[in-house]
Amino acid sequence: MDSAADQTTVLPAVEATIVPEATTAPEATVAPGGVPAPGVLAQLEAREITAWFGDHKVLDRVSLTMDAGRITALIGPSGCGKSTFLRILNRMHELVPSAQLAGEVLLDGEDIYDPGRRLIDARRSIGMVFQKPNPFPAMSIQENVLAGLKLTGTRLKRSDKDDLVESCLVKGGLWNEVKDRLDAPGGGLSGGQQQRLCIARSLAIRPRVLLMDEPCSALDPTSTRVIEETMLELAREVTIVIVTHNMQQAARVSDRCAFFLASQGQPGVIVEHGDTEAMFQSPQDSRTYDYVNGRFG
Ligand SMILES: Nc1ncnc2c1ncn2[C@@H]1O[C@H](COP(=O)(O)OP(=O)(O)OP(=O)(O)O)[C@@H](O)[C@H]1O
Ligand SMILES: [Mg+2]
Repeated sequence: MDSAADQTTVLPAVEATIVPEATTAPEATVAPGGVPAPGVLAQLEAREITAWFGDHKVLDRVSLTMDAGRITALIGPSGCGKSTFLRILNRMHELVPSAQLAGEVLLDGEDIYDPGRRLIDARRSIGMVFQKPNPFPAMSIQENVLAGLKLTGTRLKRSDKDDLVESCLVKGGLWNEVKDRLDAPGGGLSGGQQQRLCIARSLAIRPRVLLMDEPCSALDPTSTRVIEETMLELAREVTIVIVTHNMQQAARVSDRCAFFLASQGQPGVIVEHGDTEAMFQSPQDSRTYDYVNGRFG
């Protein structure tokens, strides 16, 4: 438990306070119109992340490097703070009024919480796909893919839009199923197709990192497989962080893995992280062994 002193000292120090370090990382290439060019792989690093909802501390000094162009899986029992951690990685945690945060999130060495940086830049660079597919149901498939561009104020010519819709749907593994009905409503697709549409929508703003919170938990095994294949393809150009309760999925898709745990009312911490194969075959911590072998959680 935290002492009262700890609470009062730390709580006012809301969202990251931390002085950003000078960076020598190369700037992303930016195409005309302000859209970052693809192919520039980005590293995301969380340093000493502590998070609260009101006076409930839910994460305690969590640090993790998510390597450029790799898939990192976050695993752990329900309630240990995986989704909270993921939302912190693209500044969504601060949308909850009682939410507070300390620590740093560095995208290629630059703190996304630096007061000098715009919120929209963090959200644009670091996209998110949620557990429940959330396309705009009345909007057409094409409009859904392009929806994020309006939010980021990106303007494109008609022909560029068509190219972008096609390339995002191809990357999202959906093009062949919808190319003849791009004007049909997004809400008319199956759950698995809707999730792939959401992935395509995220890709349209050319994120450098894609966060996925249990993206397959509502899907059948076939749709799950398609999305996993999509992820493996996407990892060539986007750094991916996925939360999953499915250990086989973590083993199939991820290069690196982090095991979160919140024991007996304590805030969540990372017990162990490393190469996925090593984490599954020869974990260092007996709690990791028990979890990946289905002994709890
Ligand atoms: N909006 C919120 N307001 C208050 N508490 C919250 C909020 N969201 C999450 N929490 C609390 O934060 C802790 C971590 O929740 P979080 O959703 O991050 O866990 P999780 O590991 O993603 O769990 P699951 O595997 O069930 O999705 C839990 O104790 C939860 O009750
Ligand atoms: Mg969650």
